[in-house]
Amino acid sequence: MILRNLMGLVVVLGALSAGGFSVYAWRSEIPEVAPAQPSRFDPELVRRGAGLAAVGNCNSCHTRTGGPSFAGGLRIPTQFGSIYTTNITPDPETGIGLWSEAAFERAMRDGVDRLGRHLYPAFPYDHFTHVTDEDIRALYAYFMTRQPAHATPRANELRFPFDQRILLAGWKLLFFRKGVFQPDERHDRRWNRGAYLVEGLAHCGGCHTPRNTLGAERGNDAYDGGEAEGWTAYALNVDSPSPVPWDKDALFQYLRHGWHEAHGMARGPMAPVVDNLNALEDDDLLAVVTYIAAVVGTPSPERARRGRSVLEQTSGNGATLTSDSAAPSGATNERSEGAAIYVTTCAPCHESSRPLPYGGINLARSTGPNGPTARNLVNVILWGLPPSDGQRSPIMPGFNNAMTDDQVRALVTYVRQRFGHGPTWTNVDQDIRDARAGNFKVGIYPAPGTDPASGVISQREVR
Ligand code: HEC
Ligand code: HEC
Ligand code: HEC
Repeated sequence: MILRNLMGLVVVLGALSAGGFSVYAWRSEIPEVAPAQPSRFDPELVRRGAGLAAVGNCNSCHTRTGGPSFAGGLRIPTQFGSIYTTNITPDPETGIGLWSEAAFERAMRDGVDRLGRHLYPAFPYDHFTHVTDEDIRALYAYFMTRQPAHATPRANELRFPFDQRILLAGWKLLFFRKGVFQPDERHDRRWNRGAYLVEGLAHCGGCHTPRNTLGAERGNDAYDGGEAEGWTAYALNVDSPSPVPWDKDALFQYLRHGWHEAHGMARGPMAPVVDNLNALEDDDLLAVVTYIAAVVGTPSPERARRGRSVLEQTSGNGATLTSDSAAPSGATNERSEGAAIYVTTCAPCHESSRPLPYGGINLARSTGPNGPTARNLVNVILWGLPPSDGQRSPIMPGFNNAMTDDQVRALVTYVRQRFGHGPTWTNVDQDIRDARAGNFKVGIYPAPGTDPASGVISQREVR
């Protein structure tokens, strides 16, 4: 498959080179400008830029763990090798201090750097191209007023021929559709505002849409579920595997607070997304929710009925689901081993009325056991949910050191059978190996609550 696509690309490139591909691919250098004085920028514009930068998750990718903000150096693994993010602080030597606004705009809209080199689409310019002039100006003002950091990120480690940036001109020809967002007259203002944010800066499809073998989002399968940093980013369209169908209220609460009682918590790479969405005023978040709810669509009556039944059976995290299936009657050894681990290790939190941060939702409500892969479930079991700094937050211990691969497999298989729908997962052993090796940061985010006295977490302040 990869080979076939590669051949396709080579053929396209071959045809083009005969017809002046290098002329097509060439981009001019945009001259340096003197480093801008921060005082030149209107503070109101800078403030707006800060919000937009948050929605664009610029910090998540352009800051490596422990490194200075926006100084780059985060490794982004791809199937072609590793790409390291660049320094986008206004440092004149190692950052973008000498970039004019036109150069910044070209990077965001065309994926071309100041020197005229094509940039890899690991930088989501296929989404950022939709951003308006006004918003690009605000982002530029924001980045030019950051603390400059002198730091040169590591060079990319890509296999030949993917290390040849000229190939990206061919990639763009095949997959990149440049252009500022155009409102769709058939929808109202709020939907269009949501579409602008979601398809543009927030680039939700960057993780939630599957990619083809050359790393481009498959437009025809938008929001059909993708992959991000060792996590499955679930489908958000009609194929959503969530046991309880998503509705506007649940989406609003989940995206605002990182938790919803019928769905659980935003973990992994979704946690910083939620954190960053804090920058949105309620009105804009409602626009995002309106658009995503339209993507999700209305559940079929059958699906809605199943959702209601899951909620009823697990109300108060109640254990009505427990009695039958916890007893591994006549089951295989693996199943009974999995059941035994679940009952002793997981149920005391997940089927009790222990309040957060110590209890968890009944797993029948969780998308984890219902997803297309075991990956997220395995990630959470092995690495848990550590407490977040300085606030009460949901806590789950990690079992990386406490369980053998056989035990994790037995547990995961049991949890899938008991709480999940869909066929047996096939790739569990590999998922366990990958998750063990990853030792990645499991994103955590405080769950909401309104009354600290109730033993629930206090609501996180909206910045
Ligand atoms: C999903 C990860 C990701 C996100 C989110 C992201 N970037 Fe990047 N960005 C990259 C990568 C990777 C590169 C380097 C690409 C390359 O080397 O070809 C890059 C390059 C750039 C460049 C070119 C800099 C240079 O020196 O060539 C600019 C400017 C930039 N990003 C700005 C932004 C802004 C502004 C945001 C937020 C609105 C943002 N990026 C969000 C991954 C990301
Ligand atoms: C960096 C990758 C990434 C980006 C960008 C991203 N997501 Fe996610 N999202 C994920 C992952 C991974 C999960 C699964 C998290 C988990 O298991 O808790 C997820 C989960 C979700 C869920 C819960 C789905 C379910 O059935 O449990 C919703 C809703 C969601 N994302 C909406 C969005 C929206 C809206 C945006 C854009 C504003 C967005 N996501 C951007 C990676 C991403
Ligand atoms: C000390 C209590 C505790 C124990 C023990 C525990 N968990 Fe959790 N778990 C939590 C909390 C708290 C959360 C986060 C809140 C939530 O999403 O339900 C959580 C979240 C989860 C989630 C994500 C649910 C979602 O979709 O948001 C899964 C899956 C999970 N746990 C599985 C397990 C399994 C399997 C075990 C047994 C190996 C286990 N947990 C043991 C407390 C616990």
